[in-house]
Amino acid sequence: MRRSRGRPEPADPRQLARRLLPWFDRHGRHDLPWQREPTPYRVWVSEVMLQQTRVETVIPYFERFLRRFPDVAALAAASEDEVLHLWSGLGYYSRARHLHAAARRIVAAHGGELPADFAGLTALPGIGRSTAGAIAALARGERRPILDGNVKRVLARYFLVRGWPGDSATAAQLWQLAEACTPARRTGAYTQAIMDLGATVCTRARPACERCPLEAGCAARAAGLAATLPERRPVARPRPERRRLMLLVVRNGAEILLERRPGSGIWGGLWTPPEFAEEAGLQAWCRAQFGPRARPARLPGLRHSFTHFDLEIEPWQLRAGRAAARVEEGGRVWYNSRAPSSIGLPAPVSRLIEGCLHGVEGSGQESSDGKDDPVRGARSRGRGARAGAVAR
Ligand code: ADE
Repeated sequence: MRRSRGRPEPADPRQLARRLLPWFDRHGRHDLPWQREPTPYRVWVSEVMLQQTRVETVIPYFERFLRRFPDVAALAAASEDEVLHLWSGLGYYSRARHLHAAARRIVAAHGGELPADFAGLTALPGIGRSTAGAIAALARGERRPILDGNVKRVLARYFLVRGWPGDSATAAQLWQLAEACTPARRTGAYTQAIMDLGATVCTRARPACERCPLEAGCAARAAGLAATLPERRPVARPRPERRRLMLLVVRNGAEILLERRPGSGIWGGLWTPPEFAEEAGLQAWCRAQFGPRARPARLPGLRHSFTHFDLEIEPWQLRAGRAAARVEEGGRVWYNSRAPSSIGLPAPVSRLIEGCLHGVEGSGQESSDGKDDPVRGARSRGRGARAGAVAR
């Protein structure tokens, strides 16, 4: 921890909660759906959904998910398709797969209750130290620190912590501070408070320092560095770009051929149109499946940004008459948009289907949603930008 010279008082970890809690009582968020009845299960689901995703985006997903899966047993009993269906458009689908796998393990090994001990929580798929800390603090009132993106930012600024939080030495320093700042009393309120401050006041760009309850003790504010901390990754890596051809085979005006993707990977377990690396492969497959006169037509392209790469989708369309029976082999289905089944569809695929079947401008649009995020995806032109609206 470095401090600017000439600061009147050293930043005292215990002061932070004292300054924060009165602010939280007046300005914090007290009516989020997972705060009403904060059981370990509800807090767990909300925390997983909230990873890298904004509260406003999560709320309708959380409510739908909890209506369908009110407890661990209901989630464990569901098919992975249905879990991914309710996650469609939220992005980072490994979160949903881990949640489902963990629910099954909780039923099999813990009698259907989330483990009471911290080590038991972190042993479950998808529950790291911070998520386990949030469950312990928010649902059980235990004194456990959390360190999500918002908390890292608040602590890095308040204590003027240099370094990129992804670096292990910096992360260790932030964890130490998180531990030192977490009070023994009102731990749940404090935990919610520091996340709320990071989300609403101590924001990444243009922090509202003038209305921050921590301003008087904030080392970065004193040094004029609030907006520049935490430091970014030292050398930003260039974003790789991938190009994929997707073939939308339409049958009976309302059915699209989809195939299930392998269980891991960015859209693991979700359903997408058949994919090809090159046009020659796509054309050959069309001829093999639908006869020598099959003529797929190219549609305007679609760009989709993931966290670590950009995907350039080149959609093709083929109107199939009586489709060859073989097409349905090998984990393929005819997805009927008039009676949609409960399967997981990535947001851009929903848009492509919508555009292809209903003549909506589903392509040629920019979808810079970072991770298949419906809120940002909704910025793009055209109807049906929200995957959930289509997939439900
Ligand atoms: N981000 C992560 N967890 C959160 C929570 N419980 N409330 C608001 N934002 C969050």
